[in-house]
Amino acid sequence: MAEAVGVVGGGIMGSGIAEVAARNGCDVVIREVDATACDASRHRIERSLDKAVRVGKLTEAERDDAAGRLRYVTGFEEFADRDLVIEAVVEDEALKAEIFRTVGKVTAARGTLLASNTSSIPIMRLAAVTEDPERVIGMHFFNPVPVLPLVELIPSLLTSAETMERARAFAADRLGKHTVVGKDRAGFVVNALLIPYLLAAIRMVETGFATVEDVDVAMVSGCAHPMGPLALADLIGLDTTAAVANSMYAEFKEPLYAPPPLLLRMVEGGRLGRKSGQGFYPY
Ligand SMILES: NC(=O)c1ccc[n+]([C@@H]2O[C@H](COP(=O)([O-])OP(=O)(O)OC[C@H]3O[C@@H](n4cnc5c(N)ncnc54)[C@H](O)[C@@H]3O)[C@@H](O)[C@H]2O)c1
Repeated sequence: MAEAVGVVGGGIMGSGIAEVAARNGCDVVIREVDATACDASRHRIERSLDKAVRVGKLTEAERDDAAGRLRYVTGFEEFADRDLVIEAVVEDEALKAEIFRTVGKVTAARGTLLASNTSSIPIMRLAAVTEDPERVIGMHFFNPVPVLPLVELIPSLLTSAETMERARAFAADRLGKHTVVGKDRAGFVVNALLIPYLLAAIRMVETGFATVEDVDVAMVSGCAHPMGPLALADLIGLDTTAAVANSMYAEFKEPLYAPPPLLLRMVEGGRLGRKSGQGFYPY
């Protein structure tokens, strides 16, 4: 039986997660803030599905089937019949906590698995606002979700073994992703390694040590990375990069996690990377 999935937030990540779930036979409801944001999510997914057809990963019939399994809503009541809800709104702890409180109530009777795609906020803080924290877990996908095969699974101290197994089965068996398990610490596995690297690259530019282009060329040509750290920060979103750094700095108080002023100024000025048309590069 196809799983009934809910996704809160239809931005870069929520749209990607919803698309992959629909491509794997799930019935998916995406909740966004208003009709304009719903349309933006629909267009984002349609562009991605069309691209998958162009590169031969989907047939036109499979694309149409996947698109037909997606619904876009602005309410929360549509989550009452979901087996699994994945939260993917902006990296803001107060907002995420409010969503967990609301979705926890709406899905209480069904015992829906509640997952957060947070990059850095401890899962315990989101679980603790719900009445049954044993069904809350971190499921951290990677951008672009249709392309990158990893999902980090992050149980909190209160997550049940059954929730862990359901999350693993959904990610690995249903979506065909690779899973790794991390402890409930800000940054989990990947961002604990990646964020200090991105911040170091930004500091190199900030101090005039090297240009944006030279930093990126160095890591692509010298270390065989598929893209340089500044292009990657633009892809992730500079607001998200700064928010993740802030959470990690708040957790560990290590200077290597502190967002450099250049990053903060770019975010304050609306230069968010690819999604705003300008970051370290123009788009
Ligand atoms: N960008 C990445 O590379 C990446 C990778 C892994 C995890 N994440 C995490 O995924 C989450 C989302 O990041 P993103 O890059 O998709 O951000 P984004 O800015 O592209 O999208 C966030 C979306 O959330 C929506 N939103 C805000 N409040 C909402 C609400 N109350 N209800 C429903 N929708 C709401 C916004 O309208 C927006 O469309 C964050 O927690 C981020 O840390 C991001």
